[in-house]
Amino acid sequence: MIPNENYKNLKDSYLFYNISQKVNAFIRQNEGVHIYRMGIGDVSLPLCEEVIKALHKAVNDQSAKETFHGYMPECGADFFRKAVGDYYRSRGILIADDEVFVSSGASDELGDILDLLGRDKTALIMEPAYPAYVDANIIWGNRIVRLDAGMENGFLPMPSDIPDRDNLKPDIIYICSPNNPTGAVYDREKLSEWVGYAIKNDAVILFDAAYEAFIEDEALPHSIFEIEGAEKCAIEICSLSKTAGFTGTRCGYTVIPKTLERAGMNLNSMWVRNRTTKTNGVSYIIQRGAAAVFTEEGQRQIKENIKVYKNNARCLMKALDRLGIKYTGGKNAPYIWMQCPGNMGSWEFFDYLLSKAQIVGTPGEGFGKCGEGYFRFSTFGSPEDTEESAARLVRLLG
Ligand code: MLT
Repeated sequence: MIPNENYKNLKDSYLFYNISQKVNAFIRQNEGVHIYRMGIGDVSLPLCEEVIKALHKAVNDQSAKETFHGYMPECGADFFRKAVGDYYRSRGILIADDEVFVSSGASDELGDILDLLGRDKTALIMEPAYPAYVDANIIWGNRIVRLDAGMENGFLPMPSDIPDRDNLKPDIIYICSPNNPTGAVYDREKLSEWVGYAIKNDAVILFDAAYEAFIEDEALPHSIFEIEGAEKCAIEICSLSKTAGFTGTRCGYTVIPKTLERAGMNLNSMWVRNRTTKTNGVSYIIQRGAAAVFTEEGQRQIKENIKVYKNNARCLMKALDRLGIKYTGGKNAPYIWMQCPGNMGSWEFFDYLLSKAQIVGTPGEGFGKCGEGYFRFSTFGSPEDTEESAARLVRLLG
């Protein structure tokens, strides 16, 4: 049947598109007004110097016959795969370079990777969740089982929280840690439990590690592959968007261990087969820029940028503490997930903040029903705007 009728099951439009439509309408009615943007997690700082230098050099390489590159290897340039592999190995995670695949970013990859897992599957999605997980599975026609997170489980639901656990056999389990939108982070013990559950059910964990670089607490795991057994049940999807300001530049990476097999098929080899058919890879120039993130100087420079976002988070947390508003996140993640004041609904609070203080955040309901009554702030804005927003919040809600 043409077209794909699953599209009928999607919401009319995507969360961040809805928000931008609302904000644009407000701007049209209030010409010249300054908007404090803390909605979508888009970075405000430019790429670091080390990346820019590598990008410029790569552009020059493309201008000379001797250094010019045509098609790139579909799974990633050797220099890029090695740079990422070294990054993991420097943290004691022994992956091989050919277990790393380049991508044009985590959001694309989180949908594309479903190619590996087959049709008519059951996907377990912990909500509130990044809405692309849900949409990709709806488009694919998968059955979605939602697992609600809330204050009562610290926004870190466990296998024992799964409704009808004895009768459910998920094929795919999404875990995002540090979490978007709640900022909650699984510790090793809890992640081990999920790994054990996935192995027991023959499920594959899609581990979204896009925010790993924001973890401050040393004891918390940055990668699912820090957990024993994960090499038999997990795929890790990572992005340079937030870590290194690549939201507009686009580059990420995916780790698929060669030990990951299901029904006698090897998922790493399957992804090689998929990529060689479906993509011509990521451009030479972008991969050169991305590889520069993993040099010693690149790491030092991106950490300077992350510090700026962490200061933003502290500034907002201080304001919420002062107001006595409950929240999670901010410390090990670039998102702050707060309870809406005065029992307001999350879209109601969105409208209130926009009209009274010109602040844009993201309504929790956009991340799933159980996000109703919550609101997310991104800490990727400019320090000036974040400070002013914090002051406005205190004035408005104090
Ligand atoms: C977000 O705001 O949730 C993210 O920026 C969206 C994304 O990474 O695509």
